[in-house]
Amino acid sequence: MQEIDLLIHSAGQICVVPNHDGPQRGDRLGDLGIVEDGAVAVSDGKIVEVGKSIDLRAKYAAETIIDASGHCITPGFVDPHTHLPWFGDRANEFEMRLGGATYMEIMAAGGGIMSTVRNVRQAGLEELVADNLPRLASLLRHGTTSVEAKTGYGLEKAAELKQLDAMWQLNQAQPVEVTFTFLPAHAVPVEWHGRTDEYVNYVITELLPAGADWMQKHNVTLFCDVFCEAGVFDVAQTRRILTRAAELGFRLKVHADEFEGLGGTKLAVELGATSADHLVKTPDADIAALGQGDTIAVGLPGTPFGLAEREYTPAKAILAAGGALALATDFNPGTTWNESMQMVIALACRYMGLTQAQALAAATLNAAYAIGRGDEIGSLEPGKQADILILDTADYRQLGYRYGTNLVQTVVKKGRVVG
Ligand code: NIG
Ligand code: FE
Repeated sequence: MQEIDLLIHSAGQICVVPNHDGPQRGDRLGDLGIVEDGAVAVSDGKIVEVGKSIDLRAKYAAETIIDASGHCITPGFVDPHTHLPWFGDRANEFEMRLGGATYMEIMAAGGGIMSTVRNVRQAGLEELVADNLPRLASLLRHGTTSVEAKTGYGLEKAAELKQLDAMWQLNQAQPVEVTFTFLPAHAVPVEWHGRTDEYVNYVITELLPAGADWMQKHNVTLFCDVFCEAGVFDVAQTRRILTRAAELGFRLKVHADEFEGLGGTKLAVELGATSADHLVKTPDADIAALGQGDTIAVGLPGTPFGLAEREYTPAKAILAAGGALALATDFNPGTTWNESMQMVIALACRYMGLTQAQALAAATLNAAYAIGRGDEIGSLEPGKQADILILDTADYRQLGYRYGTNLVQTVVKKGRVVG
């Protein structure tokens, strides 16, 4: 018998969600590689083998053994787009929207993102960390084992760096792994109103170099993102920022086509961005571009739902073009305060037309590729990190069907039971 740390056996289904030498693209999305009556062997925080229970129980002697009869096992959810960390809430703006104001009107009047910016600028680093720790605990309870977090509520050097430092501390303080993104071009702060090009110059000459220094000091991957949107940063400004960011060693992401299709997605593909996110009003030419490039399209169905809008990411067209689609929450205090990838799967099935198998693969393997970690997480294949969920159901098809409840029973992170 081979000695290992953990054996989970007798699962009704194990959803392996295999790599396709990369993400699952186009009409091949939704390959779950299901093993029935399955077992997972784990050692040193990594998956050793997945197979039939009868075989693995005969082969491995494990220190910890979990009987998962009647349960389904999936990879931990990867949430590749949130706006953690923030401070406070904007429930008042939700009330304004219920009264008829639009998100962009509230933003233009100095609320919206700017309101959270004021909160974050005033908060101390410790307060910022303390405000966000419970959010990460809630993510973990809902099955998210890796999450992307970003700046963008500082919009000046000290506050942007404070957000990076908060993310760093949050990553160290609890089990959910954090991927770091720098988003100093999330909005034009009020003190720069009417001077967007000058703010872009400030981002390029002051903020990006400060972010690059932080990246070198901490020796981690740092993404740079831009909110490419009508009334925020146009395609030319986005191109200037991202081109400089790439020169400084950042990997790239773009917020594109949330309210208007400006061409941000096509730019993302052209610049070799890791992901293009939101993609609601995406023009046909940009959808075609996604099929030609390596940029992952990240759909965020919680956002139109949170804003009570009718249009969602055109997933079927993206898949028909051969694109790679991932899902994320967009967890933020303005448009969608939702930390549950299960809710996102439920929305994607109803409003983006995905099958449950497609949604699950988009929330795990493809989501891992959307943060550049597809080789390490997102599937239950030998050698990958043992980030595993045991669900309170034997069949993955309960995941999108049911909603408003938490179907995660047990969370394993790097081979250890953490929730
Ligand atoms: O992705 N679009 C820009 N940013 C966020 C909203 C952030 C906020 O409103 O605080 C989004 O929806
Ligand atoms: Fe966002």
